[in-house]
Amino acid sequence: MGAEALAGKVVVVTGGSRGIGFAIASLLAEDGAAVVVSGRDAARLVRASEEIEALGGTAVGVVADVVSRQDADRLVDTARERFGRIDILVNNAGITRDGLLVRMKDADWDEVIGVNLRGAFLMMRAVSKTMVRQRSGRIINIASTAGAMGNAGQVNYSAAKAGLIGMTKAAARELAHWGILVNAVAPGLIETDMTAAMSAEAREALLAQVPLRRIGTSRDVAEMVRFLAGEGAAYVTGQVFHVNGGLYM
Ligand code: NAI
Repeated sequence: MGAEALAGKVVVVTGGSRGIGFAIASLLAEDGAAVVVSGRDAARLVRASEEIEALGGTAVGVVADVVSRQDADRLVDTARERFGRIDILVNNAGITRDGLLVRMKDADWDEVIGVNLRGAFLMMRAVSKTMVRQRSGRIINIASTAGAMGNAGQVNYSAAKAGLIGMTKAAARELAHWGILVNAVAPGLIETDMTAAMSAEAREALLAQVPLRRIGTSRDVAEMVRFLAGEGAAYVTGQVFHVNGGLYM
């Protein structure tokens, strides 16, 4: 196991230059996949792909904003032109714009739904054409505990992630006919730039509810994605996998 498990496979990871996305891209590259990482910051994408290549992997960075239909289509076209196929899509790009419901601005709602939900839709639609032709593929959507249990101060984010879970199940039913498996991974509290932006009190309050009593790592999430990308998950579709130290059961 390990080095050759994903040899010959081509993976696209949105928001893949840092945090959970970078951990996923690195781990799948370690398993032998060629990875295409997307994001909005060209310099960071270059650094991320260089880092993956330094570890012996194959990586290409593509500047693409997931809320743009043109960018989503171009990202898929670039991956296909460069590597000839796309086996795995990981919809990881995500943002938060927290605030209480009564004070939430329209823009905070729209932006969060835009990146987390519409972005994943645009990518799934774009990539599924290729996967249907191949009659195989894996789509892995990074949701959140918030999408299953809700989180105060995150009506926008919880709605987007719950929507992503619904979309995962509908797409799994539609695409099964062509051998395309669609699943979601729902992380709990994970140490990244996203959670570094939380107040210390909010973080501690959430951590106090985690039975395993530690914050998760990007690697913890990436390991679940590795499983779902691999041969061992051939009979798994339409499911949500929680990686949260027991925060939500
Ligand atoms: P992060 O903020 O470190 O990384 C998010 C990535 O998405 C960045 O690379 C960013 O550039 C990219 N991104 C944001 N907007 C984009 C856009 N419009 N187009 C393209 N790329 C865009 O956050 P983290 O924690 O690594 O989050 C990754 C995923 O995991 C997100 O979907 C997030 O909602 C989810 N998640 C994170 C949790 C955590 O505790 N950190 C918990 C549950 C879910």
